[in-house]
Amino acid sequence: MAVTEKNVRVHRFLLIIVLILSLVDRALCIRIPDRIPDSSRDLPDQQCLKTAVFALGSFWRSEAVFGCLPGVRRTTVGYAGGSKTNPEYRSLGDHAESVQVEYDSKLTSFRELLDVFWSSHDPRQVFGQGPDVGGQYRSIIFTNGSEESRLATASKEKEQTISRNSIVTTQITQLGTFYPAEADHQKFELKRKPFLLQLIGNLPEEGLRRSSLATKLNGYVAELCPPKIQRQIDAKINDIIKKGWPILREL
Ligand SMILES: *[C@@H]1O[C@H](CO)[C@@H](O)[C@H](O)[C@H]1NC(C)=O
Repeated sequence: MAVTEKNVRVHRFLLIIVLILSLVDRALCIRIPDRIPDSSRDLPDQQCLKTAVFALGSFWRSEAVFGCLPGVRRTTVGYAGGSKTNPEYRSLGDHAESVQVEYDSKLTSFRELLDVFWSSHDPRQVFGQGPDVGGQYRSIIFTNGSEESRLATASKEKEQTISRNSIVTTQITQLGTFYPAEADHQKFELKRKPFLLQLIGNLPEEGLRRSSLATKLNGYVAELCPPKIQRQIDAKINDIIKKGWPILREL
């Protein structure tokens, strides 16, 4: 009887030790940083992550317009608004060049994105945008659900009241399929700056597509960040340049 009781006590003691060790282990796990950098780690929980799609001319520029806004996590260029299946850059059919914007709805909103949409292109230009001529550069707000539809319609009416002399050509349509464009077209502005690509670790194409940092820098390169953010990034990069890039002296 005594032996059994002792066994129970020993057993309980061991159980407590195991429990403490597992807690210590868990605490340690928290302190050990991830060895593998994963750009998805800086994304907020999926519940707050929403998606919007806009067409406002060349998608190289459109991607840069949205990339640097507070709350925007990722951008992807692609084709939407047409009926052709699997469009490509050289044969996009009736689609428009578009940008898909993933944003944290705690930090920004569809309404704020609409403001940026209107102020970043000329929605009154017919059959093109800026120097780019053709239906693929038309202006479209893609909506998901009736609330977004309502907000888009109200914002278009407001835009039209600014001047009655010309028509706001922007279409508002429920989003069908968004076809991501070929890798060459993703983060196109950033790819013009090998120095900045190097600075963020020469990410492979997929990493570049997913990276919030690349998304932001893509807007910075095009000088399309809000002025305050543009200056902040400028300062940070100048600082890095001033401190000196490690120089290879011998092999
Ligand atoms: C539309 O919104 C719902 C949630 O509001 C979401 O689950 C769905 O994926 C969205 N659809 C598209 C095409 O973005």
